[in-house]
Amino acid sequence: MTTSSPPTEPFAGTPLGPDESAGFGHGKVILLGEHTVVFGHPAIAAGLPVGVHARVRAGSGQILAHDWGLAVRVGDGSDVARAIEALARRLGADPAALDVQLSPEIPARAGLGSSAAMAVAVARAIAVRVGAQAAIAEAVGAAETVFHGSPSGVDAAAAAAGGIGVFTKKDGWQPAAVRQPIKLCIGLSGEPRRTADLVAAVGLLSRRSPAIAGVVDAAAEVTRAGLVALAAGDIDSLGRLFDVAHGILAGLRCSTLALERLVHGARAAGALGAKLTGAGGGGAVIALAPSHRLDVLERWKADGFSGLQTSIAAATP
Ligand code: MEV
Repeated sequence: MTTSSPPTEPFAGTPLGPDESAGFGHGKVILLGEHTVVFGHPAIAAGLPVGVHARVRAGSGQILAHDWGLAVRVGDGSDVARAIEALARRLGADPAALDVQLSPEIPARAGLGSSAAMAVAVARAIAVRVGAQAAIAEAVGAAETVFHGSPSGVDAAAAAAGGIGVFTKKDGWQPAAVRQPIKLCIGLSGEPRRTADLVAAVGLLSRRSPAIAGVVDAAAEVTRAGLVALAAGDIDSLGRLFDVAHGILAGLRCSTLALERLVHGARAAGALGAKLTGAGGGGAVIALAPSHRLDVLERWKADGFSGLQTSIAAATP
């Protein structure tokens, strides 16, 4: 993925069949507050305009996503099958009697919330068939537990809502006050990672060391400052806060050499700030570079990384 727009029409433009239902889930980036959100602090996240489209029809438990090279079946024990089984059952549907086809616009396991986007898309498509809209959030939570153990829920909330929002475990998702759309460059390290492992490592570090618990609280202050900057349209300060947040996340050992190269490359190309986004340990970075977006993408390309640009408003229309 080297461009700013979705690679193709979902499902290659094929119209929805008479027995098919459809759903969409947004990909996500976390602007500020990953990891600290697990401890109950706020995170600022964005549901991207691109994500995962799903189609569901009566079938025999097939789950396909050609663009991810994914072909699994209900009952085969794979994470994706177990997640879709869990969510379908919460919606009162028999997963073995459905076929699920996915058309993703985001890479899998790249820090862009592919599992939550998939879960939201499939849950929405199944809920249409069985009239279970009220149970979608719980069903998505069940799927996310299969992938990530006990996630905060921020990925699922952003995947469902789109736009920029503030999430806490206690109060869920609220659209954020945003003065102007946020234009981001997203750089992909190409390193897959397991969110659950990173969350466990940060949790362990903080339980073992009161000093690190204090650092988590300090990181939460950076998120709160980010909310003020967003509301004021102060992109320069938001960029600086990205840098500070990245420094803390790197100190918590969530960064990698590839993520450092992406972050430093973006800054050298004129970004106001750059940070890893999501769990880290691989995955993606985001950079704020209002006047240098193409320079950042060029720099990443020269360094062997792919990237894209996106613009996110407070709420998707
Ligand atoms: C992952 O996108 C965000 C983390 O904070 C985990 C979570 O909130 O569940 C690292």
